[in-house]
Amino acid sequence: MSQFPPRQFRIAPSILSADFARLGDEVGNVIAAGADWIHFDVMDNHYVPNLTFGPMVCQALKPHARRADGTPVPIDVHLMVQPVDALAAAFADAGADLISFHPDASTHVHRSIQAIKARGCQAGLVFNPAASLDVLDWVLDDIDLVLVMSVNPGFGGQGFIASALRKIEAVRRRIDASGRDVRLEVDGGIKTDNIASVAAAGADTFVAGSAIFGKPDYAATIAAMRVALAGG
Ligand code: DX5
Ligand code: ZN
Repeated sequence: MSQFPPRQFRIAPSILSADFARLGDEVGNVIAAGADWIHFDVMDNHYVPNLTFGPMVCQALKPHARRADGTPVPIDVHLMVQPVDALAAAFADAGADLISFHPDASTHVHRSIQAIKARGCQAGLVFNPAASLDVLDWVLDDIDLVLVMSVNPGFGGQGFIASALRKIEAVRRRIDASGRDVRLEVDGGIKTDNIASVAAAGADTFVAGSAIFGKPDYAATIAAMRVALAGG
């Protein structure tokens, strides 16, 4: 059992499904609607078959990642890129608060983690649906976040891959055994009607793109997710 009190759940809308012609407004609107983090899906059309946005867009959006009272909202950068290190450094300089990468996209995983943390960012590892968790044997004590993919990376709007629930449970066991305060985030196919089962498996942070940006009322959707997480 974790030594930490029950975690506060976090909703991290992915701007992959936002209106790319109005990203600044979209970030402001989803924060006003109750988002805890902004999930920033970076794709290079090499590691994944899609291309999104780079550090300059992160820098441009940073001033928008604030609550009405001026409190900053963390930018949670998910790097689906290969190689990792140069872009991780550029996103750290562009204002990223957390930077996660896929271990199979880095030649030296421990060094990539160290480089992200040396720039003052929190570091995370991302695991694809068929990826082993073995690397966590050696670096779980060095990271702040584990991101479990419940879809194959590259596109929003995909269906949740059920085997991810077993992987989430396995990661939860590892985190609890470590006694460290590591966030467990899940990305892909998260909806109001399945978020409670993802939390029950051990997740505490939820990426949702099309479930939120595909709806007219962001606040109502995020509120419905929180009701589901509260057991409603
Ligand atoms: C996949 C992306 C998506 C996105 C969430 O590479 O990372 O998982 O964030 O998309 P939805 O919530 O629409 O599945
Ligand atoms: Zn993502």
